[in-house]
Parts: sequence; structure tokens; C-alpha cells
Amino acid sequence: MAKLRILKDNEPTLRKKSREVTEITKRTLTLLDDMLETMRKANGVGLAGPQVGVLRRIAVIEVEEGNVIELINPVIIEKSGSQTGYEGCLSVPGRTGIVTRPDYVRVKALDRNGEEKIYEGTGLLARCFCHEIAHLDGELYTDVADRMLTEEELEAYYGNSEE
Ligand code: NI
Repeated sequence: MAKLRILKDNEPTLRKKSREVTEITKRTLTLLDDMLETMRKANGVGLAGPQVGVLRRIAVIEVEEGNVIELINPVIIEKSGSQTGYEGCLSVPGRTGIVTRPDYVRVKALDRNGEEKIYEGTGLLARCFCHEIAHLDGELYTDVADRMLTEEELEAYYGNSEE
């Protein structure tokens, strides 16, 4: 497995729409493996294709340690409720925003074997599904945030351990 470079929010690739995966190849599987490793090393809970420079509708999510969700061509097929909370992104380092998202989503996606799966998420998992799928359409959470935390709020939230 290889660690990939995570693109930052000033890079135009993050603003492009990703294309569907038409065939799951060995390269697709390697990409999924590399994305998981890259996400874990960066202490993230989700990572989408464009964030590693691949404009394909692919994402990995691990909100609960060990419960890895690999999404290929994911689509939100149902959503309900509303939650407002903190959100960050590996492509937007050092910043945190307050974002309102659905509190429940149902997602349809292919797994690495090409089988269609349905996932349900509430709370943080629902937030993560929305965030990662938005990446595939070139959207960042900063576009939809109610607001971004101020420096003082960030310090209070994270302490002074941040670089
Ligand atoms: Ni993100």
C-alpha cells in the first residue's frame, strides 16, 4: 500500500466533478487500499477520490475504527432530519466549520466486488456520507458551512497542540 498526497483546498481538481467508475479493476482496488491507508495516517474519517487527485466517484469512510465502508458510485437515496455540528476536512487543514446536514441518510453504492450495497447512517456517519459524496461533485464543506470557527474558538476546541 502507498500513502497518497492529499490535495489542499486551493487546488482546482477538488472543484471538478468526478466521473462514475465503469469497471472495477485491480487499479480501483489498489486505489481503495491506498486511500484507506492515507486517510488513517492523516487521522481522518473519510476520504474521496478527488482529494488524492483521482476524479472518480470513489470514497472510503471509517467513522468507527475497523468498520471500513468503501463506496463506489455512491448516491444518497434518502435523507431526513437535521443536525448541526462541527465538520473538518483533510483538504482544509487547520480549520473547522459548523455545518448543518441531514441526521439520517441512506446510500446506495457498489462495493469492491461490484455488488450493490445499501448503507444507513445517522449522526456522524450520515454527516460523513454527505461530506464525501459532495467531494465527488466538487463541493467542499466550506461552501455549505453555516460558519467557520474563529481562531479563538479553534484554540478552545483543540487546545494549543495544533501546529
Ligand atoms: Ni473532506
